[in-house]
Amino acid sequence: MHGKRILLGITGGIAAYKIAFLVRILKKKGAEVKCIMTPASSDFISPLVLATLSENPVGIEFWDKKTGVWTNHVDYGLWADVFVVAPLTANSLAKMATGSCDNLLLATYLSMKCPTIIAPAMDLDMYAHPSTKRNLNQLLADGVHLIPAEAGELASGLVGEGRMAEPETIAAAIEHFFLSQNSKANLSLKGKKVLVTAGPTYESIDPVRFIGNHSSGKMGFSIAEQLLAEGAEVELISGPTKLGLAHPNLTITRINSAQEMLEAVQSKWSDMNIGIFSAAVADYRPMEMAVQKIKKSENELTIELVKNPDILAWAGTNKAENQLLVGFALETNNVLENATSKLKRKNLDMIVMNTLEDKGAGFSGDTNKISILDIHNKLTSFELKSKSEVAKDIVAYLINYHK
Ligand code: CTP
Repeated sequence: MHGKRILLGITGGIAAYKIAFLVRILKKKGAEVKCIMTPASSDFISPLVLATLSENPVGIEFWDKKTGVWTNHVDYGLWADVFVVAPLTANSLAKMATGSCDNLLLATYLSMKCPTIIAPAMDLDMYAHPSTKRNLNQLLADGVHLIPAEAGELASGLVGEGRMAEPETIAAAIEHFFLSQNSKANLSLKGKKVLVTAGPTYESIDPVRFIGNHSSGKMGFSIAEQLLAEGAEVELISGPTKLGLAHPNLTITRINSAQEMLEAVQSKWSDMNIGIFSAAVADYRPMEMAVQKIKKSENELTIELVKNPDILAWAGTNKAENQLLVGFALETNNVLENATSKLKRKNLDMIVMNTLEDKGAGFSGDTNKISILDIHNKLTSFELKSKSEVAKDIVAYLINYHK
């Protein structure tokens, strides 16, 4: 993002305080940042904080009431490489959708020469309201890029969808935006649809307990990120993780159990060119989920487990001639032998192997050490790398692969 000019527009929601962190992240990445605010937003975060962190004056009013100096919204429009409105309240969203311009931020939006990205933030009922949806759709139709609100705890105390994406997620989305602009001409996966599964699955024992595993989801999210950077349209189906990712070409479906992951995959697979199954799916689930919380007693407790569907095997069985399928194998012994049999049994084109025998490889860390075995029996081994570098290797392998 070095040298990129990012104009941040802040509207009056509680999430405005988080923009201080966003400014710091963007500045650390080498971007130039200017902030403009609606008058209401200065009740939530002081312009002084944003001016200090961005190292630029903050625009709020059309003119300075003391000096009469005019703040030219057209100049902001000419200066910026991207305009990011975060948080975007329901009120400002409605005004942007209708072309109203009763403050500097809105007038700047109407004068923008560069693309606009929005990160809405509001209470769950407001976010779900038909008028909000209508306004969002209008902005999307106008070519605005959306960083969807996330589900979580809201300032009202309610829990649901409406929370502004975290500053790290917004920064990543801005970075993606620039990356995809830079390489628009030679994107290797442009027009390709790729399904990625990621993270663990949680299999409920009762309303408060589950069987899960330590998968962080980092491998799958990093793969999705690399695919997006190469121009692919990505369907990411993820089990419970703390991770977020936003991009105009990305849809994230969040599920909990293996059964839910299977249903999500089944509804999308036939439409895909490539499938990369990196999720750590629980092989078993409790036969029945107790309706009430299980109380402890004097006796031992036995939970009967039944087999979960093998999602990757389902995709392999239902694979069309022109679809490419990639599986993962985490093995502790007989790595090559087990992976070869998995490759054939699940009708894969390639399998990414990692072993817990390798220090730094596997599940929950930030690094991984992989080998790729393809159906032509070609085995390629890679060094220990960060998961995002590993994701680059996997995506590069895919791009150069001939069926
Ligand atoms: N996988 C899946 N659905 C399952 C289990 C696994 O989609 N119910 C996928 C994983 O995402 C991964 C691959 O299958 O891509 C390998 O998973 P693994 O559990 O190692 O394979 P299994 O065939 O279950 O073999 P084993 O448990 O004996 O190692």
